Amino acid sequence: MKFFVDTADVEAIRELHDLGMVDGVTTNPSLILKSGRDILEVTREICSFVSGPVSAEVVGLKADEMIAEGRKLAEIAPNIAVKVPLTWDGLKACKILSDEGKMVNVTLCFSANQALIAAKAGATFISPFIGRLDDINLDGLELISDIRQIYDNYGFETQILAASIRTANHVTQCALIGADVMTAPPSVIKALAAHVLTDKGIDQFMKDWAKTGQKIL
Ligand code: G3P
Repeated sequence: MKFFVDTADVEAIRELHDLGMVDGVTTNPSLILKSGRDILEVTREICSFVSGPVSAEVVGLKADEMIAEGRKLAEIAPNIAVKVPLTWDGLKACKILSDEGKMVNVTLCFSANQALIAAKAGATFISPFIGRLDDINLDGLELISDIRQIYDNYGFETQILAASIRTANHVTQCALIGADVMTAPPSVIKALAAHVLTDKGIDQFMKDWAKTGQKIL
C-alpha cells in the first residue's frame, strides 16, 4: 500500500520523505488554509522534492472552471494529480483532464456508486473519506471494501486512495482490504510506530541497563 501524506506542511512532508515514507502528497483547500501559503507556491515547493503524485484541488464548481484551474495546476509539475469533487461537473472535468493525460483524483467520495461512476469517467484515484463517514455513524471501512470488490469485479484501474484516515486502525484495515493508497496526516503516520508494549519494554531495558553500570560509547 502506498503512503501519501495529507498535508501542505512542507517541513512535515520533508521529515517523512527523508524516511522513505512519502509515495505522494494530498492537499485540499482546508490544508492550504492551514499552511498559510499560496497554493501555487507551496505546491511547487512540494513537487520540487516529492516525485510521486501530488494532489492539488480545484475550487471551481462548474466543469469549465475546474478544467481551467486543473490545467493551471497541472502546469506546476508533471506529477500533479488534479483533485476534483465528486459531482456531475467534477466527473465532466475528470473525463476531459484524464483524456489530456493528466492524473485526476476524484475526491469527496462517500458511496460505492460514486466510486463506480468516477472510474467510468477515467479517474486515476478515487478518494473515499473514511473518517467523515464514521463521524455520522456509517462505516467508512465497509465503503473501502465495497469499492475494492467492485473495481476488482470489472478490472477498473482507478486506484483506491483511502482518505480522511484518523487512526492507526484505519491504516491497518485499509491495508488488509487492499486499498491501493492511503493518505493520512503526518501525526497518524507517526502513530503507526507506537505501541504501549514497545514503550514498556524500553523502560524496563533502561532500568536494567542502568544497573549494569556499563556504557556502549
Ligand atoms: O484527504 C482528505 C482528508 O484531508 C479529509 O480528512 O480528517 O478532514 O476528514 P478529514
